[in-house]
Amino acid sequence: MQRVAPYLIILTLFLPLIVIAQQTNHSVPVGASLTATDDAKPWLSPSGDFAFGFQHIQGQDNFLLSIWYDKIPEKSIIWYPEGGPTVPRGSKLELIDRRGLVLSDPQGRDVWTSESSSDISYGVMNDTGNFVIVGNESHNIWDSFNFPADTMLPSQVMERGGVIYSKMSRSNFTRGRFQLRLLQDGNLVLNTRDVATNYAYANYYETKTDDPSNQSNSGDQLVFDAVGYLYILKRSGRRFDLTPSQELPFGNYYHRVTLDFDGVFTQYYHSKDSTDNSSWERVWSYPENICLGFLGTEGSGACGFNNVCSLDQNNRPKCECPRGFSLLDPSDPYGDCKPYFFPNCAEGDSNVDNFDFVELKDIDWPTSDYEIMNPTSEQDCKNACLNDCFCAVAIYRGNKCWKKKLPLSNGKVDYSLNVKAFVKSRKGDIPLESPPHFSGNKNDRESLIIVGAALFGTSVFVNIVLFLVICLGIFLIYKKKDIKLNPGAETNLIRFKYQQLVRATNGFKDELGKGAFGIVYKGVMGTNTVAVKKLNRMAQDGEKEFRTEVNAIARTHHRNLVQLLGFCDDGEQRLLVYEYMSNGTLASFLFGNMRPSWNHRCHIALGIAKGLSYLHEECSTQIIHCDIKPQNILLDEYYNARISDFGLAKLLVMNQSGTNTVIRGTKGYVAPEWFRNAPVTIKVDVYSFGVLLLEIISCRKSVKDNESGNEYEAILTDWAWDCYQEGRLDLLVENDLEALDDYKKLKTFVMVGIWCVQENPLLRPTMRTVIQMLEGVVEVTKPSCPSPFSHTLG
Ligand SMILES: *[C@@H]1O[C@H](CO)[C@@H](O)[C@H](O)[C@H]1NC(C)=O
Ligand SMILES: *[C@@H]1O[C@H](CO)[C@@H](O)[C@H](O)[C@H]1NC(C)=O
Ligand SMILES: *[C@@H]1O[C@H](CO)[C@@H](O)[C@H](O)[C@H]1NC(C)=O
Ligand SMILES: *[C@@H]1O[C@H](CO)[C@@H](O)[C@H](O)[C@H]1NC(C)=O
Ligand SMILES: *[C@@H]1O[C@H](CO)[C@@H](O)[C@H](O)[C@H]1NC(C)=O
Ligand SMILES: *[C@@H]1O[C@H](CO)[C@@H](O)[C@H](O)[C@H]1NC(C)=O
Repeated sequence: MQRVAPYLIILTLFLPLIVIAQQTNHSVPVGASLTATDDAKPWLSPSGDFAFGFQHIQGQDNFLLSIWYDKIPEKSIIWYPEGGPTVPRGSKLELIDRRGLVLSDPQGRDVWTSESSSDISYGVMNDTGNFVIVGNESHNIWDSFNFPADTMLPSQVMERGGVIYSKMSRSNFTRGRFQLRLLQDGNLVLNTRDVATNYAYANYYETKTDDPSNQSNSGDQLVFDAVGYLYILKRSGRRFDLTPSQELPFGNYYHRVTLDFDGVFTQYYHSKDSTDNSSWERVWSYPENICLGFLGTEGSGACGFNNVCSLDQNNRPKCECPRGFSLLDPSDPYGDCKPYFFPNCAEGDSNVDNFDFVELKDIDWPTSDYEIMNPTSEQDCKNACLNDCFCAVAIYRGNKCWKKKLPLSNGKVDYSLNVKAFVKSRKGDIPLESPPHFSGNKNDRESLIIVGAALFGTSVFVNIVLFLVICLGIFLIYKKKDIKLNPGAETNLIRFKYQQLVRATNGFKDELGKGAFGIVYKGVMGTNTVAVKKLNRMAQDGEKEFRTEVNAIARTHHRNLVQLLGFCDDGEQRLLVYEYMSNGTLASFLFGNMRPSWNHRCHIALGIAKGLSYLHEECSTQIIHCDIKPQNILLDEYYNARISDFGLAKLLVMNQSGTNTVIRGTKGYVAPEWFRNAPVTIKVDVYSFGVLLLEIISCRKSVKDNESGNEYEAILTDWAWDCYQEGRLDLLVENDLEALDDYKKLKTFVMVGIWCVQENPLLRPTMRTVIQMLEGVVEVTKPSCPSPFSHTLG
């Protein structure tokens, strides 16, 4: 992915004009037809990029009416009529006035029509890949973009209510089990469905771009813009990006997004240069791990019933029937698996000696249970299943046993939970084959993000329901709060006169600290000590904007944030009054003479994570801090971490155009995307938090200042990675015995830190996940090298 010089952009702008000038009339007149034969010339777009016609289906004497890329060796099909009907040789497509496109078989029977009943002037294969039927008053009567199959192209838009379907398999164009829908409420979801009735099962991915409490926040259209960015356009005009900008190669590429037959929604690009022997490359795909996404109780999950899903090297699902099962349709590895033994209570086969178990390690089917034993032992679990004529499979993990009935859904390989499946079988039934080999060894797999795996675990299902209920409760409480706080946008902030603050600070005598936004002084008001921040003069500071921002800051209430008490807005003077934090900054605490205790440090790290998570996800207007560093974390009298200076980043650059280009933050803590002109999201804070966390762990600064010694150690993030790689966390914590005694937690913290400083913002977890990982609620997987492009040692 290279940056392209400006003249190329100009060239690209003029290219279409040149092409158009050279082209003859490419319109398809009424009455024109195509016949399904091997040498039939398709209808081409003016540039020749796209073709509309018949494609021979490999291995059959059938053809598919379709649109494809005509200039590249892989003539990838991007459109076909609903359901992908294949037709025999000799079938015909005709553009008929008042009927539209009509596809008929050699006997003349209609197979499909575009059902355009108006007068037609002509049809045209547009250079965008859209086949358009133009009416008598040159308006579009029908176009293929409005009836997408499994793919969207740049300049294509999906309205609310829109849907695309996956194919049945790689070469079967019948509608498959997966669909992508932009719901009426603005949420974009991926789900499986009942193929016969189209009934939608639970989502396995969603953008959550619906907001019932504020319509203008919810999604309106799914837009694939002409450049190749896919995003959800909200009714307010804001964007929810699905294509992160630094991920998209700029240049002479075809772009497409496809809901692949395996259920993964993927953006691809392909060089337009026909001599380039490359193939379609992936930009992104959702969900990150489809095997873990299925929580619903209906439907079979990513693979068929009883089948087991694992990810291959390209993050695509791979389905394999485990021992004790075999493929129902041997030609469809993604389909259902049939059991060798089906429990049958009526058979009267009560002699338990006739039965045995196939033991499967690291395989789990999280649903389909009918009984849970807790606590129990592995042997009791097996015995219970053996003596229960309903029981087909027992899952054992951590003193718990889940009895399952067939068929099993949502099967997955899961190395994180130490889970065992016992598949009941009749002795002698199971062929003595070697157990199936699941792709990717354990370590590879762990390096994928299976963050959250613990939550999706077997039959923690009940826990999940409980958890969701609790979350819902909390959510509702917060909702209520928001409603109370939002209207009027006024808070009980105190507005001070400048002279009052001069008196309180004794003429700004006692300086507490200096920051990017101004100097902080100690002050006394009555019996209370306060911190008064005198803000630097701002570029163009409207009074109204100042009040808005201050109110936004004042509306935040969290035990890990420094509370704003009041402000002053007298002419030139802008001051903020905060509660006073008696134990100073985290910087002096961490890097002082005394090494703070490990427990203290853990407590502080968790507090910062909670405060940040609140700013990102829980307060009424999302706040990106942009300058997380130890100087901005204060400690109250109980050594609780309190984040300060939040909400100010926005104030400082208020009204300046192109705010994104102004790098905020502090060297050593800023995320790489600041330098790439990429959109700044909450993930910049996650990055800074990661650096901070590593500092808290190691009690050393992120960048060693001018000290002789090992060069490798200069940059903390690199050093932490090296120590982690080599299993030498003792070096990182400088033999801090307290930390080393708590090795599991130490390792967890280091891994979380490394996840947070991943160069690719998408790989960084959210602060909410960070908290869960730090607290040990969610298993942390092996992180990969945080800066794969700039790291030279690894
Ligand atoms: C060219 O296309 C136009 C529609 O844009 C059509 O009206 C006209 O008949 C076509 N001309 C020729 C020479 O085919
Ligand atoms: C265009 O077609 C409509 C019917 O689709 C017809 O009512 C109308 O008269 C036509 N206009 C012209 C200019 O032919
Ligand atoms: C082809 O698509 C472009 C971009 O959407 C549009 O401007 C142009 O009018 C289309 N051409 C036809 C014939 O519809
Ligand atoms: C595609 O799959 C469907 C459903 O499994 C099946 O009915 C149909 O025959 C298949 N079509 C082809 C061309 O194999
Ligand atoms: C709804 O959301 C929009 C866009 O985020 C915001 O501008 C507006 O103030 C919100 N309205 C209410 C009532 O919260
Ligand atoms: C292009 O790739 C194919 C398959 O990867 C290979 O067989 C062929 O030799 C390559 N051609 C060139 C010119 O590199």
